[in-house]
Amino acid sequence: MTDIDGLLNDLRVPVVGAPMAGAAGGRLASAITAAGGLGMVGVGNVATVEQLAPELEIASAGGRFGVGLMCWSLPDNPELLDVTLAASPAVISLSFGDPRPYLSVVHGAGIPVVAQVGTRTEALDVLDAGVDAVVVRGDEGGGHGRGVVATLPLLQQVLDITDKPVLAAGGIATARGLAAVLAAGAAAAWVGTPFAAAEESLFKDSAKQAVIDADTDQTVYTRAFDVAQRFDWPTIYGGRALSNDFTAQWAERVTELEADVPDAMTAQMKQARVQGDTAMAPVYAGESAGLVTEHRTAAQVVDSFAGFRDYLVAAQRWL
Ligand SMILES: Cc1cc2nc3c(=O)[nH]c(=O)nc-3n(C[C@H](O)[C@H](O)[C@H](O)COP(=O)(O)O)c2cc1C
Repeated sequence: MTDIDGLLNDLRVPVVGAPMAGAAGGRLASAITAAGGLGMVGVGNVATVEQLAPELEIASAGGRFGVGLMCWSLPDNPELLDVTLAASPAVISLSFGDPRPYLSVVHGAGIPVVAQVGTRTEALDVLDAGVDAVVVRGDEGGGHGRGVVATLPLLQQVLDITDKPVLAAGGIATARGLAAVLAAGAAAAWVGTPFAAAEESLFKDSAKQAVIDADTDQTVYTRAFDVAQRFDWPTIYGGRALSNDFTAQWAERVTELEADVPDAMTAQMKQARVQGDTAMAPVYAGESAGLVTEHRTAAQVVDSFAGFRDYLVAAQRWL
């Protein structure tokens, strides 16, 4: 029933397009799948059924796809899970919170479940809950997650505690990076930032350009954007975004901001997002932004990973 390995074995390139709220809609997901990866649709904490349903329709018209849900916000909008199940995705990600309340219904629909984790303890917990595969997501990754352990140490730890498939996420943006995690034992790479900047992404053009312009040292992990927007993200989750004028002022002063978020700031942040003002609004992206240097289609991004075998061969001199 829940054969993640079978799903991954069918891919031309072992790359899963990460579910990314605000970036990965149906168009991006289906473009990644068409190119030989597995595309996923991201469902954010403020998503509505009316927004999600058409995206899932586009994704399913393009073949196999996955959906990424946020456990902490599902109780506020449980219909998001109903709509997702009705679209029969090939895999569902239950991340950012406890997957237990949703596992039996998803498994009952014959759909495998993966969960992103940011520590060894979290990996043990979701494995105990019964997920079918684990995505180890390092601190260098873009978007929300834990900000505590980097991808490679976490991957090595988690591979040692389970025989289930382990996917690697965070900082993987080239064939070299893909080869590295596959050589370590990962079943596939779970890639966000390079696809967020792709033509089919829902990112505004200004945000795509900002990712292309940023270097590896121009991101910051912070809760400041969520606090400014009055989002109720559990406090263990921050998000990695491009450094900008707002983070320069607030990334290190989150406690102060939390004590008193000015209404004007919340309104300004909302407006900045609508207008694509990258100096104020969050552009969620990881350290691999520095490896994204040109405008590409999702197919070009998938193709850029396809040369990973050359690097596996290079490592064979040690055999
Ligand atoms: C713009 C953006 C939005 C994201 N939104 C989600 C999301 O809605 N759900 C989720 O599970 N992960 C989300 N993530 C995290 C990704 O699933 C993944 O962990 C991360 O992108 C991997 O690191 P990378 O960006 O270095 O490839 C998001 C990441 C980015 C860059």
